[in-house]
Amino acid sequence: MATMTCHPTMHIEICLKDSARKDVSYSELRTEVSRHLSLHCSGLYISHCNLLLKSFDRDTNFADKVKSISVDLELNDSESESRLKTLGEHWKCTRHSFYVFGLNESMPSSDDLVLSCNKEEEEEDMTVATHWRLPCSEFHGLWESLVYDSSVKAQLLSYASTALLFSDRDVDQHIVSCNRVILLHGPPGTGKTSLSKALAQKLCVRMGRYRSGRLMEINSHSLLSKWFAESGKLVNRIFEEIEKFAQNSELLVCVLIDEVESLSAARSAAIKSTEPTDAVRVVNAFLTRIDKIKKYPNVMIMTTSNVTGAIDLAFVDRADIKHYIGKPSVPAIYHIYRSCFEELIRVGIISGSCSSVLELRELEESFSYKRDAQATTSQSLYEISRLSEGFSGRTLRKLPFLAHAFYLKSVGVESSVFIEALRKAVLKQKKEEEELTHTD
Ligand SMILES: Nc1ncnc2c1ncn2[C@@H]1O[C@H](COP(=O)(O)OP(=O)(O)OP(=O)(O)O)[C@@H](O)[C@H]1O
Ligand SMILES: [Mg+2]
Repeated sequence: MATMTCHPTMHIEICLKDSARKDVSYSELRTEVSRHLSLHCSGLYISHCNLLLKSFDRDTNFADKVKSISVDLELNDSESESRLKTLGEHWKCTRHSFYVFGLNESMPSSDDLVLSCNKEEEEEDMTVATHWRLPCSEFHGLWESLVYDSSVKAQLLSYASTALLFSDRDVDQHIVSCNRVILLHGPPGTGKTSLSKALAQKLCVRMGRYRSGRLMEINSHSLLSKWFAESGKLVNRIFEEIEKFAQNSELLVCVLIDEVESLSAARSAAIKSTEPTDAVRVVNAFLTRIDKIKKYPNVMIMTTSNVTGAIDLAFVDRADIKHYIGKPSVPAIYHIYRSCFEELIRVGIISGSCSSVLELRELEESFSYKRDAQATTSQSLYEISRLSEGFSGRTLRKLPFLAHAFYLKSVGVESSVFIEALRKAVLKQKKEEEELTHTD
C-alpha cells in the first residue's frame, strides 16, 4: 500500500506598499520574490518557524512595491526535530504557497459602541466594543512577534482554517460536528488577546475565499460594568453591526470576546441573589445573540480568559479548541529578548562590536568554540533568560525598555553595557514580584 507523505510547506505572505496596490503584476512579483528567497537568503536562519523580512536591497526589483515578506514553515513531525536550517535550505525541500495582500490603514472604530455613564456628575466613557477592517496595519507583524514553545500557532491556524472550510462547504453538523469557537486561557500577559487578533489577521490573509475581514472585539468586563441600563441597548447595537457584516458572505467576521469569565461570573453572582437583575438580562441577551450569530458560516468566535478552571458558559463549553497559553520557557524567553535586542541594534540604541545576536541553535554550538563579541553577548543573554524564567511575555517585552530607562538613558551603548542593565532590571523585577506575592 502506498504511504502518504505530507510535504512541508512554506507559506510566503507578500505585503504590498500602499502605492503599489493598484498596478502590480502578481505573477511577476511571485517570480521575483521566489528568486530572492532562493538565492539571497541562503545565510538566513529561520527560527521558531517564522520570519518577517522588512528590508530589501535596492537592487531587488520589488523593493519599491513590497513592505514586508513573512515566511512561515509548516513542518511535518520528523522535520521539527531536525537541525537548524537556513531559509535557502528550506526553500529547496518545501512546497510554496504565496499570498499577496495590502493593509488597511484606517484606525479602529468604536463609533456608537461606547458606554457613557454619568456618575455623580462625572462623565466617563468606556469602550465596550471596537472593530477593525482586516488585514490592518495595527496587527501587521503581531503573529511573528509572538513566541510559543509548542506549535500552538500552527495548530490554531490549521484548526480555524478547517473549521471555516467545513462551514463554507456546508458540512452537515449532525454528521461531522465542528464549532467555530476557540478558547484561549491562561495567566495574565501571556499573549491571549494578541494571539486572537493576530489569528484573525492571518486567516484573512491566508483564506483567499474571503475578500476581506472584520474583527469585532467585545470587552465583557466593560460591558458588564455597573451601568447596566445602557448595556442592554449596547448589546443590541453591537450585534446589529456584527450581523450586518456576517450577511455579506465575502467577509470573514471574527468576534473576539475578551475576558469571557466576566459573563459567567456576573450571571452566577446575580442568580444567587433572589431577584433576576439587569446583569442576568444583559448576559442572557448576549448569549442568545452569540448563538444566533454563530450560525453564519463566515463567523469565527474567539474567546479569552484568565480563569483556567471551568467556565460556565454553554458556548465556551462547545469550543472545539481550548488551548492553555502558559508562560514562556527559557528558549522562548531567549527568542523574545533576541528580537528586542535586534530591534534596538536596528535603531542604533545598541551599537558597537556586536551587530547581531546568535539564533538559539547557533548559540548551543557556540558554547564549545566561539569567544567573539557576538558569542559572548548571546551567551550572557541566555544566562539572563534563565534568570527571567517565570515572567510573562508582557513583562519580558517591557524589560529592555525599563533597563534603558533606569540604568542607561543614552544612545549608542555597547551590547555588554546593555546586557548588564538588563540583568539589573530583571533582578529588580524579580524583587518586586516577590514583594507583591508576600503582601497577597
Ligand atoms: N509568548 C509571547 N511572545 C512574545 N510576546 C508576548 C508573549 N506573550 C505576551 N507577549 C507580549 O505581551 C503583550 C500583552 O499580551 P496580551 O495583552 O495579548 O496578553 P493577555 O494574555 O491577553 O493578557 P491578559 O490576560 O492580561 O488580558 C503583547 O503585546 C506581547 O507583546
Ligand atoms: Mg487579554
